[in-house]
Amino acid sequence: MNFRETDLLHLWHPYTDTNKFEQIDFPIIQSASGVRLKDSNGKEYLDGISSWWCVNLGHSHKHVVNSIVQQSVSLQHSITGGMSHTAVIELSEKLSQVTPGDLNRVYYASDGASGIEAALRMVIQYWWNLGQSEKKNIISLSGAYHGDTMGTVGLGFLPKFHKPIEHVVNRSLQIPAPICFHCADSENCTLQCFKDAEQILTKHSKTTAAVIIEPVCQGAAGIRIYPPEYVTKLRKLCTELDILLILDEIAVGFGRTGKMFASDLAEIQPDLMVVGKSLTAGYLPMSAVITTEEFFDSFRSIPGQDRTFYHGHTFSGNPIAAAAAIAALEVFEKENIIEQSKIPANLLKSGFEAFSEKPGVHKTKTLGCMSSLEISEQAGGAKATEKMAILALKEGLIIRPLGPIVYLWPPLVTNKSEMKEMLSIFDYCLDCCISV
Ligand SMILES: Cc1ncc(COP(=O)(O)O)c(C=O)c1O
Repeated sequence: MNFRETDLLHLWHPYTDTNKFEQIDFPIIQSASGVRLKDSNGKEYLDGISSWWCVNLGHSHKHVVNSIVQQSVSLQHSITGGMSHTAVIELSEKLSQVTPGDLNRVYYASDGASGIEAALRMVIQYWWNLGQSEKKNIISLSGAYHGDTMGTVGLGFLPKFHKPIEHVVNRSLQIPAPICFHCADSENCTLQCFKDAEQILTKHSKTTAAVIIEPVCQGAAGIRIYPPEYVTKLRKLCTELDILLILDEIAVGFGRTGKMFASDLAEIQPDLMVVGKSLTAGYLPMSAVITTEEFFDSFRSIPGQDRTFYHGHTFSGNPIAAAAAIAALEVFEKENIIEQSKIPANLLKSGFEAFSEKPGVHKTKTLGCMSSLEISEQAGGAKATEKMAILALKEGLIIRPLGPIVYLWPPLVTNKSEMKEMLSIFDYCLDCCISV
């Protein structure tokens, strides 16, 4: 089969400009192992973006693969509505153990966006259950990204992506997000930006059901890394104002920040935590909303009020995805992944610090295994990062720019020499593509 021709005849690629795509020699991946993907011609690529931020344990991990195979043989699907199965019970206990404080109740959805949708419906119904249906609005951060369903798009409206559906999207109220790249005080941060949160939440507390944020890093907005203290302060404020706090840990959960969860870094417990992506180490789609017993209890029906949460998905708690997630958590523990991730994290930090000296690089930021830099407008901005991504592919590294931002988001298991190789290709591409 001519894969390229057949692809161009039949596939509709997400987030892909068709005209540009048809012009490039895009890779057609056939297999992967560790931090490398291999295309149909045998060429290898380092995975600099952990395959859309979900392959924290790298590709083709034996333990996860074996667990998936075994589970597929014994039970591939069984519903979780009105009954249960062993794999989902085991996973729920494990998630309760690894998540902060008393987040002990787990609800499963199919992917990140559907997990967020579930969380949104939960918080709105929570206040309805308590007879406070005026608390129905959700507040998010500007530039937020929580998924691509109609409900989640409303939380993080981005003109470039959502202009054509603007007239039907129900947009949430937004707090101006902390953007450290553009902040004069970012070196000696005193969280002046938090004043916006204080002002908006105080004003709207009576009608607000919940605040939702991507803690410590707004991913799709441009890997906007910001201080955990912002999240800590937000927790305190939400408690004072009787507003629920939803942390979207879909991208940053499972070790990405150097701790198991961003909540751990901020030393807080949200009311609801949503996880996805690397929950199954990127093997199968699955997401979860994890909350407290107290929150869950408010959904018990009482005489005269049916409080059941009538919301669900065919694949909610799917056994094979659950088996992958259990295996992933076992790998985290057995292989001490958080400790291991310090190797790529430290190299990323020093690498990006060095990049910040280059002319044309506006600013760099790193946290755990996340790193980003902004190319200034004069040095080419978004055009330069686009060129970089194409050149990086030729050189054997997968990266995806976000406007003028370009970043590395390597698997947590990337070893020293692999990380050095990624940084060296990145360095070369920067030098070739920045116009100074
Ligand atoms: C923070 C965050 N929330 C939600 C989502 C949506 O997840 P999914 O693509 O699995 O629907 C993403 C995806 O990138 C994300 O980064």
